[in-house]
Amino acid sequence: MGLSGGALFRLGSDMVVEQRTVRPTHGGNLAWAAGVAGCEPEGVLDFSASISPLGSPRAVADAIQGAIATLSAYPNPDYQQLRQVLGAWHGVAADWVLPGNGAAELITWAGRELAGRERVYALAPGFADYGRAVRAFGAVLEPWPISLLVAEGKGLEALAGRLRTEDGVWLNNPHNPTGQLFGRDAILPLLATGALVVVDEAFMDFVEPGRQETVIDWVGQFENLVVLRSLTKFYCLPGLRLGYAIAQPERLQRWQQWRDPWPVNALAEAAAIAAVQAVAFQQKTWDWLGPARQALFEGLGQIEGLEPLPGAANFLLVRCEASVVVLQEQLLKQHHILIRDCLSFKELGDHYFRVAVRLQEENERLMGAIAQELPPLLEPALASAESGRLER
Ligand SMILES: Cc1ncc(COP(=O)(O)O)c(C=O)c1O
Repeated sequence: MGLSGGALFRLGSDMVVEQRTVRPTHGGNLAWAAGVAGCEPEGVLDFSASISPLGSPRAVADAIQGAIATLSAYPNPDYQQLRQVLGAWHGVAADWVLPGNGAAELITWAGRELAGRERVYALAPGFADYGRAVRAFGAVLEPWPISLLVAEGKGLEALAGRLRTEDGVWLNNPHNPTGQLFGRDAILPLLATGALVVVDEAFMDFVEPGRQETVIDWVGQFENLVVLRSLTKFYCLPGLRLGYAIAQPERLQRWQQWRDPWPVNALAEAAAIAAVQAVAFQQKTWDWLGPARQALFEGLGQIEGLEPLPGAANFLLVRCEASVVVLQEQLLKQHHILIRDCLSFKELGDHYFRVAVRLQEENERLMGAIAQELPPLLEPALASAESGRLER
């Protein structure tokens, strides 16, 4: 039985959860959550999308306001100013940067290039869009299982041993959904061997500058390297759609010829220029995230039945002894809180959830709600029935 309309999850003789609408495969689907919670979408406290709770820098709203006057003209398809600002920020020339309609658009073009390789390895569990992108061009991903609990490159060394010169690799650093930060040293052997290595650094901004493991400074030396970045998460702009690729200019020119001429609208262009220059906002984010994540990690770890994994990004993956599908529904109905189930990461199934790190009082609300809802779901009879009888 699928996960769409009317599917029943049997979790014990007395407990049946009905899924009335199509279960989302991405976080942040507030319409779905509101339907389950029985409230307005604005009433849902969303921990499922890993977006900064600090909002956007003030300068971004001003820039969007100012750019409204330019909407009567097409954007310049070269996006020269935006590329210059992004390039200066990362220490590369403007023609080594290609802005796109979210990192998601650039994932599509990276997928097109990877699809032409002999094999395309992708970390498993991993972000579902990588599979979407290569499938669009007739290829499939070769899953490369990584350890959930051991950080610092575990799994990548073994992949380097397996990789052949005609293969491609799709990495994500810090990694969604585990939050692991791979060391640059673990990526280097992949670059030395593989035909193409795409490193999605959509969450790297959240790592404090001195601890980042970005490989952007290697693009000059490795023509087989593509780095993807996103403004969605750090600057709380998921609705704007702005991401960019950094790679050698010949590759980016090819992508530019494949795609439509104006994938970035004038408002997104102006907003992005303002966002990356918002230095005080960036510092405020790092000041908030470290202590907030640590407090959430410790608090979740104290709840019986939960085991959070240490993470370097703005979210935590949590192992849960009870069914997450049931816990998620209880949290929505009783508390209007949405956590991210991990059913779309098929290696994780119904015993993991992911939560964004939010503001302290919101994190406390989450922990209080879980502490209230989880104990009845942990009853031994229910737990053993669950593992054998879960219907999907
Ligand atoms: C790992 C990863 N890469 C890329 C994206 C897409 O980012 P964007 O909003 O810039 O398209 C996401 C969104 O969830 C993500 O989790």
